[in-house]
Amino acid sequence: MTELRRKRTNRPGHPQDRRVNREQAMKLSEDDFKFICKFVYKTTGIVLNDSKREMLYRRLTRIIRERKLNSFTDYCQLLRDHGEQEKDFFINAITTNLTSFFRENHHFEYLTSEVIPTLIKNKTANINGKKQLRVWSSACSTGEEPYSIAITILEALKKELAQWDVKILATDIDSNVLAKGKAGIYDVNRIEELPLKLKKSYFLQGSGQSSESVKVHKDLKSIITFKQLNLLHDWPMKGPFDAIFCRNVIIYFDKKTQQELFARYYEMLAPGGLLFLGHSENLGNYQQYFSNVGRTIFRKP
Ligand SMILES: C[S@@+](CC[C@H](N)C(=O)[O-])C[C@H]1O[C@@H](n2cnc3c(N)ncnc32)[C@H](O)[C@@H]1O
Repeated sequence: MTELRRKRTNRPGHPQDRRVNREQAMKLSEDDFKFICKFVYKTTGIVLNDSKREMLYRRLTRIIRERKLNSFTDYCQLLRDHGEQEKDFFINAITTNLTSFFRENHHFEYLTSEVIPTLIKNKTANINGKKQLRVWSSACSTGEEPYSIAITILEALKKELAQWDVKILATDIDSNVLAKGKAGIYDVNRIEELPLKLKKSYFLQGSGQSSESVKVHKDLKSIITFKQLNLLHDWPMKGPFDAIFCRNVIIYFDKKTQQELFARYYEMLAPGGLLFLGHSENLGNYQQYFSNVGRTIFRKP
């Protein structure tokens, strides 16, 4: 009887066998893990180590199911054969997009207290009679960072605004987060901590089914351009920028990529321009070319 039962459950195609096969197939082998890490590095500059194995497993399992594939090996083959087509989808799945409005608020306080007053004093109008202010949020995620910059600038320039031509470029490699930033619609709890005055001035509360969301004011949208840009690739814009935000992105890159990027950020900054890094980031050897003027704030001489 036991023998008979064993035979029955061992029949090929039996549901139990299929489950066992699927579980075996969904193992992430060392070779596949190494291939995926290399692919991530080549396409994004992001360095994945063993501590990211769980995260990678979770995020890619979802894609593998959606693609109706059976294993990581199949997915690696798809990346080998159709990497170009799959790249965007893959990148969107593996990037970490954590952000918030006025994250690391000391940077926005520095814009208000130092950067904008200095620009007001020193900038002269161009041939159109306007003073130019250019800021780049270079890993903008879902848009909270460029919108926080825009709010800070509009608040600081207030009376002067008509004399200024303000433009903020917001870029990221991930097309999903850019779409969210462009839409400018957020859960109301994302702005919970903001002063009431800013909420009232720059966000419109939804109604009916959208009562739990807010939409950013068109005055903010009108000065921000969202564009997809991989920091490892060519940068098509000319600059120069008065300030560049490069926060909480280089932490994912290796030292070599970081140093290459710092050299390129340096070139993109106007003399006296500022580079803002994330809380756990530093310029390493590139520090000698900038002066450190605040917490993770660096000025090009
Ligand atoms: C943790 S978020 C940081 C968002 C924001 N700067 C902040 O500090 O709140 C990192 C962002 O970097 C982007 N990113 C990662 N690799 C990139 C690359 N090679 N080029 C451009 N953006 C990249 C990710 O898509 C993600 O949205």
